[in-house]
Amino acid sequence: MLNSDTKTATTTSNDPKLPAAERVEGRAILTVDGKNTPALWYVGTYPIEGLEQFKLLQTCGLKPTHRVLEIGCGALVAGIPIIDFLDGGNYVGIEPNGWLIDQTRALPQNESLCQMKKPTFLLNDQFDAAAAVGNDPNKRFDFVLSHSVISHAAKCQFIQFLERTANVLKPGGKLLFSCRLVEPNGHQGTGSGGESTFTTWQYPGNTFFHRATVIVLAKQHFKTVEERPDFTNRLVATHCSAAHDWFLCERAQ
Ligand SMILES: C[S@@+](CC[C@H](N)C(=O)[O-])C[C@H]1O[C@@H](n2cnc3c(N)ncnc32)[C@H](O)[C@@H]1O
Repeated sequence: MLNSDTKTATTTSNDPKLPAAERVEGRAILTVDGKNTPALWYVGTYPIEGLEQFKLLQTCGLKPTHRVLEIGCGALVAGIPIIDFLDGGNYVGIEPNGWLIDQTRALPQNESLCQMKKPTFLLNDQFDAAAAVGNDPNKRFDFVLSHSVISHAAKCQFIQFLERTANVLKPGGKLLFSCRLVEPNGHQGTGSGGESTFTTWQYPGNTFFHRATVIVLAKQHFKTVEERPDFTNRLVATHCSAAHDWFLCERAQ
């Protein structure tokens, strides 16, 4: 587990020489320059999309006191605005490719924010947040966000993802995730001829599931499962290629 600091979060950077995070509409947004463009190319997400992913969480009731787990946090494209908004220590990101986080943190504005807000990063590909939760129910999460991870996952990984996220959410906690449906969504999500049968992660290729499969699998762990085309519309408005299919799932109380 990489924990930037176990001390209590403060409201200013530990290092006064570090510049403040860049802002759009008053919200922190990922700073990009030559040092982290390989990471941005790898994840294929624009900073303005990350800001919109954060706003989806706000639409669902996110407050600064909440704890958020982001699965597949990548280059912190959504992570930066979320980390900025939350009280210190309340963000945990899971990411198997630690170099993506490192490249983002190589830029002083991004590092400054991480020093202030003390996010925790877990380097694994098992959707495993146990190290950040332990046996403490208060360490469970109010929200789990995962964009463009299940769209590359095999069905066995999707099943593991659903079980593990449900287990680390608080009662009533919410999971927002994107995937690719076999059924076209009217944007650049043009669907596919059938459900994927891969047994391993596909990247940069995609995997596709039927809408009915997603709902049946998610309902095994969540009280409510809603497809949210309005989330897709909002993401597409930031960039036409951000055309994933979104689902909102709520854990039982
Ligand atoms: C398309 S990128 C999306 C990153 C980020 N969510 C975003 O919106 O920019 C997919 C991410 O999933 C990560 N990843 C790959 N396998 C994973 C796994 N088993 N669990 C969690 N993340 C994984 C990749 O390293 C990459 O950062």
